[in-house]
Amino acid sequence: MNEDIIKIAIAGVGNIASGLLQGIVYVRTYDEKKGKLLHPKISSFEVKNINIVAAFEVDENKVGKDMSEAIFSPINSTPKFIDIDNLDVEVVKGPLKDGLTGHLQEVIKVSSDPEVKVSEILKESEAEILICALPTGAEEAVEAYAQAALDAEVAFINCTPTLIASNPVWAKKFKKSNVCLIGDDLQSLAGGTVLHKGFLDVLKEQGIKVRDTYQLDVSGGLETLNTLDDDRKQYKRDVKERAIKQSFGNDINLASGTSDYLEFLGNRRIGHFWILGEGFMGMPIKIDIRLETLDGPNAAGTLVDVIRATKVAINRAGSGPISSICAYGFKAPPVTTDRHTAHQWFNEYLEGIRTE
Ligand SMILES: NC(=O)c1ccc[n+]([C@@H]2O[C@H](COP(=O)([O-])OP(=O)(O)OC[C@H]3O[C@@H](n4cnc5c(N)ncnc54)[C@H](O)[C@@H]3O)[C@@H](O)[C@H]2O)c1
Repeated sequence: MNEDIIKIAIAGVGNIASGLLQGIVYVRTYDEKKGKLLHPKISSFEVKNINIVAAFEVDENKVGKDMSEAIFSPINSTPKFIDIDNLDVEVVKGPLKDGLTGHLQEVIKVSSDPEVKVSEILKESEAEILICALPTGAEEAVEAYAQAALDAEVAFINCTPTLIASNPVWAKKFKKSNVCLIGDDLQSLAGGTVLHKGFLDVLKEQGIKVRDTYQLDVSGGLETLNTLDDDRKQYKRDVKERAIKQSFGNDINLASGTSDYLEFLGNRRIGHFWILGEGFMGMPIKIDIRLETLDGPNAAGTLVDVIRATKVAINRAGSGPISSICAYGFKAPPVTTDRHTAHQWFNEYLEGIRTE
């Protein structure tokens, strides 16, 4: 058996899942240089070592299909970067709970297949990590998958903004069971939040006082349609705004989040950054930037690092939230810090200098 293989399961075969599977096959096909990886190797693990062994969905367009086909089914909008051979992993129907509410109900039909027992499938497939990529606001569904991971003693990576790793009750449960817990709300490689924090960091370091700023984006992905619902939109905004206010305090006028769904943009996300500050002698400084990215690969770029670091944590018998991995890859980690320190913690953890 190849010791370097990492067996993962994924709940939600949406755009993150598409970016992740295509990314793994892309690197296997074209090697790491063309894949443009930040960390070609994490410990002994390469991206090509990640193997998807189980997948859970509720959409009738995806359940029953092989994962290689399901990722290209509507309503996913991540473009096709590469052909994928049959994986021999059938997408099965997981617990629906509150997974599809609001606008999602209008565009997704729930599969009539019976719901499987997630913990049993995790054990049968010998998955080591369960990645949760459910829609924003699917609180009960996310918790059901977190519980299944605990029951199967499988590490849990929460890409959604539902607080699991940052929730002391869940953190304690995972710690007690000696299972790794990573989250919450995945931070894309070149995402709006990390770049916004970066611009503000540089200005702060240079002594510029930032008064007003916003980072608002539009996109055509399903997740954006989902966050059109007022409560989900606010939920996502709160996570993003907290991530920035933790570093810059409350005396900054700030707005951050998704402002509209434009179906014709597909997987593209167009972000606008506006910053108004004051420099030496009250000199006004205005920054106005436009950013265009694709959600699927942007999220997967961070996830391939987080998965391999989680495998390192599993091998070290880690338990509960691993602060360094959470701070590196997530917008709402249990312990927040600036981007530079987060990268330093991550590298120190991988080198064995930090214990969590
Ligand atoms: N760049 C990014 O895409 C990005 C970045 C950071 C965080 N996130 C977060 O990651 C999560 C997933 O993002 P995405 O873009 O892949 O979303 P998506 O909307 O493309 O996919 C979500 C999938 O979950 C499925 N689903 C709904 N309920 C389910 C259930 N009970 N069981 C199994 N599957 C279910 C849906 O049918 C859909 O296929 C979101 O919470 C989002 O906020 C995404």
